Amino acid sequence: MLLLSKEDIRQVFTMRDAIEANKRAFQLLVEGKCNAPLRTNIQAPKQDGCFLFMPAYVEEMDTASLKIVNVFPHNIDQGLPALPAQVMLIDGKTGVVKSLMDGISVTQIRTGAASGAAFDILAKKECKIGALIGTGGQGAAQLEAMLEARQLEEVRVCGLHYDRTEAFVKQMQKEMERYDARILPVKSSDEAVEDADLIITATPAEKPVFDGTRVKKGATISCIGSYQHHMQEMPPVILTRASKIYFDSEEAVLSEAGDILIPLEDGTITKDNFTGDLGNVIKGEVTGRENDEEIIVFKSVGVATQDLVAAREIYDKAVKAGIGTKWNS
Ligand SMILES: NC(=O)c1ccc[n+]([C@@H]2O[C@H](COP(=O)([O-])OP(=O)(O)OC[C@H]3O[C@@H](n4cnc5c(N)ncnc54)[C@H](O)[C@@H]3O)[C@@H](O)[C@H]2O)c1
Repeated sequence: MLLLSKEDIRQVFTMRDAIEANKRAFQLLVEGKCNAPLRTNIQAPKQDGCFLFMPAYVEEMDTASLKIVNVFPHNIDQGLPALPAQVMLIDGKTGVVKSLMDGISVTQIRTGAASGAAFDILAKKECKIGALIGTGGQGAAQLEAMLEARQLEEVRVCGLHYDRTEAFVKQMQKEMERYDARILPVKSSDEAVEDADLIITATPAEKPVFDGTRVKKGATISCIGSYQHHMQEMPPVILTRASKIYFDSEEAVLSEAGDILIPLEDGTITKDNFTGDLGNVIKGEVTGRENDEEIIVFKSVGVATQDLVAAREIYDKAVKAGIGTKWNS
């Protein structure tokens, strides 16, 4: 078995690799080629947490995977990640586990790449300004994906605490230097979204995190945060202003995301407002952006197919490059 750390993954798998891997994953999903049962959730009330198991199998790739991502919010007090995670990659011909890799990195890069794939496919060609709301665990990969998808001049970043936003931005200015964009901390989401062409929300918020009336025509918005019924980071008005609404998986989004479920239930939108899954656009079955005036929304909750395709590519590249630690049981 090959053990792959965060550093190993970073060495072999770029954000561009991840964006292309996500496009393949979204296509496999709409083609019904990935057997990925809804994730198993075992509650751990003593710790206010839960264990989440996300399995997937793609026969045509002879690959299966299992991501274990556990939510333990009090870990922060011990300096441990609140969402510890690992991905197991399994040989579909033999059932042998071939690799165990850092699941936090896989999740961050594939979740960033979902926004990246959506922007690649749905955003206007000419985009200058980006807005990132949320500077937590997912923030860096979301920012990188946005910069990778379009040549932006400026990205404005905002979070709940301005001092943390400033520290995040300082670090990102170094890490993302190669993209040659101004990355700026701002104090409010109003300042962030004003005139923005690309907007990402990556928060666990339970109330909308920006004013949807301030979003300009032609903007593309990717909301990755809300994954439970009571979570809502997207203002419903943006859904009524949007000409098109896409998902990573409509089925998965409708099984959990308050961002869509709440406005559906109160009648702000109906299912007729939904355009389709990103995989349908990739396959040419559903129309994408038709002009530079349309506001487009992409909502994702994450699907195990993304982990499987990313993990398989990371493994193949690591083997080729001779990277990782071999372990024999
Ligand atoms: N779609 C997916 O595939 C996917 C994958 C992983 C995580 N997630 C979800 O994405 C969300 C973010 O994850 P994370 O690990 O970065 O979380 P985190 O807790 O590490 O960070 C959350 C960030 O949101 C900011 N925030 C919260 N409320 C805000 C508000 N009202 N206005 C502005 N900023 C606000 C916080 O300041 C912080 O920077 C979570 O809900 C997580 O479950 C989704």
